[in-house]
Amino acid sequence: MKIQVISLFPEMLAPVLETSMLWKAKDRGIVDYSYISLRDYGLGKRKTVDDTPYGGGDGMLLMIEPLVAAIEYAKQQDPNAIVILPTPRGKLYKQSEAKNLATAASGLIFVCARYEGYDERVTDWVDQQFCIGNYVLTGGELPAMIIIDSVVRLLPGVLGGEQSAEIESFQSDDKTIEFPQYTRPEEFKGKKVPRVLLTGHHGEIESWRQIQQQENK
Ligand code: ADE
Repeated sequence: MKIQVISLFPEMLAPVLETSMLWKAKDRGIVDYSYISLRDYGLGKRKTVDDTPYGGGDGMLLMIEPLVAAIEYAKQQDPNAIVILPTPRGKLYKQSEAKNLATAASGLIFVCARYEGYDERVTDWVDQQFCIGNYVLTGGELPAMIIIDSVVRLLPGVLGGEQSAEIESFQSDDKTIEFPQYTRPEEFKGKKVPRVLLTGHHGEIESWRQIQQQENK
């Protein structure tokens, strides 16, 4: 999967995407990340990317020309890619969306907004708009990386135990939470591992786990 990220702060991306499992996915040739600097598409000698909003209001907006020029460049690299705009105005992002992207998309282009926002006309060049939660961040880079993380870990060959996907949190219905797990020691500062897990009785363990999942719903 080819993943391209358009950002004014591309230096934010590599430290996250080039670490641990996200890096391993790249090392194994499962994904390929590229970072596109929005500044390179700025206007004039000063490479301007923002301007004041029509109708007045605080702050600056990302202008349409640099955004669309960067998206068109990314599309040339990967014409079938799905263009995603992380925005508080988007659809609430859930595990089912991660699953859809992991199975259906061969390439993703993320458009990371900054400042107080962006010229709304950019949405005509975007396929999907996602909100990662009901709070506002300073830019789209963190949401983009969260979406990338959730998609890449679902790609075949990225995680070890793929059978665990079936019992994973949110996997079947965007709601069910994984049951709690424990490892050694059996007791730590008076806190004990639930007895049933030490019995070796698979049936009882399975029903205890199912009860835990129900309780989290
Ligand atoms: N940009 C700023 N806040 C955001 C959010 N909650 N989700 C997606 N993009 C955002």
